[in-house]
Amino acid sequence: MTADLTIRETTASEKIRIASLYPKAFPDEDLLPLVLALLDERQGVLSLAGYRAEGLVAHGLFTPCGVERCDGTGALLGPVGVLPSLQRLGLGGALIRAGLEQMTRRGVHQVFVLGDPGYYRRFGFEPERGVIAPYPLPEAWADAWQSVTLAGRSPLAEGHLSVPAPWMEPALWGP
Ligand SMILES: CC(C)(COP(=O)(O)OP(=O)(O)OC[C@H]1O[C@@H](n2cnc3c(N)ncnc32)[C@H](O)[C@@H]1OP(=O)(O)O)[C@@H](O)C(=O)NCCC(=O)NCCS
Repeated sequence: MTADLTIRETTASEKIRIASLYPKAFPDEDLLPLVLALLDERQGVLSLAGYRAEGLVAHGLFTPCGVERCDGTGALLGPVGVLPSLQRLGLGGALIRAGLEQMTRRGVHQVFVLGDPGYYRRFGFEPERGVIAPYPLPEAWADAWQSVTLAGRSPLAEGHLSVPAPWMEPALWGP
């Protein structure tokens, strides 16, 4: 099913097509302000999309981030969305793997995500204890805060993760 999928970085002209995917993939959550702000931010943000014959069917973002007084670079993965009719066919996984490969090429040390460990562990993510999320997370979400250290790199030093302005919204970090 992923054989007919092409993954590439999006261009500025695709903003509306990307925006139309999120309310479908996340019917109960309004992630559009975050997604649009990150697309505008552009400063090192990786915007990757998956395309099939019918057009853009999957999208994900990797935002550069770091820990104060630590030279290593990090990235925050999310959101990631696949059109509902095409979920669970491997498209999301292919997009995330392509993004992690790009992060490795860019010299990123560690990628963070807040998400279901049952899904993200297949990419090597494990619960993260040393680097703390920008806002306090509910106890029940402790294992949802995860990271993967990329091949040949060392993890970032312990501390609070600093993220750009679009991510500094408490509602993104709690129920
Ligand atoms: C989560 C999402 C990006 C995964 O992409 P996908 O293409 O549907 O998933 P894949 O085909 O790569 O992976 C399928 C596997 O992941 C599992 N899976 C899919 N979504 C899952 C979820 N939310 N939690 C746990 N497991 C999940 C499936 O059970 C399947 O497992 P299996 O391989 O053991 O059968 C996609 O389902 C989606 O857009 N969901 C709605 C939005 C969302 O929740 N995004 C993630 C939070 S940022």
